[in-house]
Amino acid sequence: MTVDLVVRNCTVVTPAGRTPDAGVAVEDGTIVAVGRSDRLPEADRVLDGEGNVLVPGIVDCHIHNREPGLEYKEDWESATRAAAAGGVTTVVGMPNTDPVIDRPEHLELKFERGEASAHVDFQSYAVVTSENLDLISEIDEAGALGYKVFLGSTVGDVPPPSDGEILEAMEKIRETGKRLGFHEENGEIIDHYTEQFQSEGKNEPIDHSHSRPVVAEREAVERMVTFAEETGAKIHMFHVSSGSAAEAVARGKDRGVDVTAETTPHYLWFTEEVMREKGNVARVQPPIRDAEEQDRLWRVGIDDGAIDCIATDHAPHTPEEKKVDDPFGNTWDAISGFVGLETEVPAMLTFVDRGRFTMEEWVRRHSTNPARVWGMYPQKGSLQVGTDADFTVVDPDLEWTVDSADLHSKNCVTPFEDESFRGKAVATVVRGKVVARDGDVLGESGYGTRVDVDNE
Ligand code: NCD
Ligand code: ZN
Ligand code: ZN
Repeated sequence: MTVDLVVRNCTVVTPAGRTPDAGVAVEDGTIVAVGRSDRLPEADRVLDGEGNVLVPGIVDCHIHNREPGLEYKEDWESATRAAAAGGVTTVVGMPNTDPVIDRPEHLELKFERGEASAHVDFQSYAVVTSENLDLISEIDEAGALGYKVFLGSTVGDVPPPSDGEILEAMEKIRETGKRLGFHEENGEIIDHYTEQFQSEGKNEPIDHSHSRPVVAEREAVERMVTFAEETGAKIHMFHVSSGSAAEAVARGKDRGVDVTAETTPHYLWFTEEVMREKGNVARVQPPIRDAEEQDRLWRVGIDDGAIDCIATDHAPHTPEEKKVDDPFGNTWDAISGFVGLETEVPAMLTFVDRGRFTMEEWVRRHSTNPARVWGMYPQKGSLQVGTDADFTVVDPDLEWTVDSADLHSKNCVTPFEDESFRGKAVATVVRGKVVARDGDVLGESGYGTRVDVDNE
């Protein structure tokens, strides 16, 4: 038997362990064999892994692809180009676009745009507001991966539903079998401190961080965990930034609540000192925390397992919006968020190199678990025979320094500028097609397709 593609001479790593001198065989976009290089079938195309590490395709369930409506920041083409270059095979777009993804027609528009231009496979969340509780089942039928509520004000200014409406939304979403994720910051707390700091003339980048204290995040987690305990809904905490919030997630799991959580490389990499070093470039919501909170995020979130997933919160803005010309200027004039798709795999590999993660634990959190949490497993996030041939080949020893001029997004402002990593993706394969090699995007725009989770 001759298959389409064989990748050989790799160490294959999954959460279950590692196999040296191994690889994967692909036919019609599907995995047909995984195992020792010398046992794999003949192939039309053979890719030599050169002793690198092959893992199931990296799944990033938190990106702001900005299309429809905010294409001046980013679009499906540019976001998924960055994903391919960075070693990410599936992305999930956030709903704070223009229009917001709050009804089936808007979701369909977002899917159509993605089908037309994506380089890697994709999905989307739909937002829940006071206005669309009656559309939850229709949005489900239109194929949304899951739902999102913005509890506190953030980019896009999507108003939060009331607590009563959130309870009702949880009941309805439970019926669909899908999961509801949160931007979990208590809006009343952050609005209070934002107004107070502004009136006191506290305008430095670090003031933005302190206007959104840890208690706002922790309280939001605890309230949503309580609601989920009552309703039986499956919930998710996006971008957990602090040890205190991770502990609140852990307490929810201990109480039997189906609460999952993610953190991002920037909360694990930087402490709030970065606001004094890089200013508004590093401004993000929730903010980057102090060393003590970060330490507990590592211990409770990563070592003890409260955090299920790694995602980026890839949130591109223009250099003008990020105020890069004056990074220590009035923080209230700057915007929150920055790109991450091309630095997430390298940051995580650097943590592996430093002994903070095992390779297996990295794969579990950056591929297996995101796919499981959002109902895409094993089609995505596994190397099982019969599933999509998505995988990422990484060189764990490649040392390099970030130059944002080399990134592929439309706008590439990032606090990871000038940071040094050990590790990088060297090949990205989506359904058997090599969409990027050594950082060059090879795939065609429009190859990526929506991950179908309709009929689970
Ligand atoms: C995100 C954005 O720019 O859309 N910004 C951010 O600071 N994280 C919004 C969000 O995820 O809250
Ligand atoms: Zn958010
Ligand atoms: Zn986000």
